[in-house]
Amino acid sequence: MFPSCVRIDVSACGVNFVDGLFVQGKYQIKPPTPFVPGMEVVGRVTEVAPDVTDVTVGQRVFANVGLGGYSDEVVVPAKRIIVLPDTLSDGQAATFMQSYLTAWFALVERAHVEAGKWLLVSGAGSGVGLAAVDVGRALGLRVIAVASTDDKRALATDRGAEAAIDSRLTADEIKEAAKQISGGGVDYVYDPVGGEFGEVSLRALNDDGQYLVIGFVAGIPKLPANQVLLRNRRVTGVDWGGWAGKNPAANDAMLQDVLRFVADGRLRPVEPVTYPLVDAARALQDLEDRKVAGKIALVP
Ligand SMILES: NC(=O)c1ccc[n+]([C@@H]2O[C@H](COP(=O)([O-])OP(=O)(O)OC[C@H]3O[C@@H](n4cnc5c(N)ncnc54)[C@H](OP(=O)(O)O)[C@@H]3O)[C@@H](O)[C@H]2O)c1
Repeated sequence: MFPSCVRIDVSACGVNFVDGLFVQGKYQIKPPTPFVPGMEVVGRVTEVAPDVTDVTVGQRVFANVGLGGYSDEVVVPAKRIIVLPDTLSDGQAATFMQSYLTAWFALVERAHVEAGKWLLVSGAGSGVGLAAVDVGRALGLRVIAVASTDDKRALATDRGAEAAIDSRLTADEIKEAAKQISGGGVDYVYDPVGGEFGEVSLRALNDDGQYLVIGFVAGIPKLPANQVLLRNRRVTGVDWGGWAGKNPAANDAMLQDVLRFVADGRLRPVEPVTYPLVDAARALQDLEDRKVAGKIALVP
């Protein structure tokens, strides 16, 4: 065993959209091939290096491994592991971290949201979007979800969205629906989808409203500057991974806030759909094809 490390028998590994970008060589970080994708694992500790004193064999833990999670066993530095609250199942625990910390970082640290205001969320039936619905509601925001299927909209509504809009409506219809539901315009937009939705949602923002740049699943939007000027709107970048790397202590504190909300039931990470580990390629394809409501976990 390597010094300062522990061995984990993996019981679930979360699947994220970013994993698909990694394997297609489309992510900003390009690891040398061959590599094993997978960032988030949960399992039992089976071995501990002699110099590790605060972890014991048999403990159920989460580890943010960066890469290599699609495995039945991982060896990670002990400082990377988190002991989990019993309230989270293995599947929930393996799929909540990236999604919830992105949502929390965006809404709390970047937007400084105020309770009672309106939040419009794209891609709201899965991944970071669904987490933003849950976090937004827990922070007292009034949430409007945008998603493509009944299943995804139902999941978002179950997590507390007051209204749900079909993302397959026209750009104008989505904008008008958001304005009508919020009584004139929304205060925040959380957008992991991008593409055409970027401009649509910018135009749905009220005075001093903030558009949060989260992701570009449907392409990088070109936002017209005149629409930012009008009504004194703001566009705010959100790079949770980059920030967490530079601010590990603040990220740990944020994780503790999120875990406290999970432990007392204010946040409810979704129970994921599970695929056998051998079907990892199918899982990535189904995620990219927008077939999955909620999250996916691979089970060795
Ligand atoms: N900024 C950050 O710090 C940060 C952190 C983590 C992830 N991200 C980014 O957030 C984005 C979403 O990640 P995720 O893990 O939440 O992904 P996900 O679970 O796959 O969700 C993405 C959603 O996007 C929607 N979508 C709209 N147009 C699409 C298209 N052309 N192709 C595929 N999906 C489309 C789908 O919802 P509908 O079918 O309902 O439209 C889908 O459910 C990614 O770009 C990722 O890189 C950013």
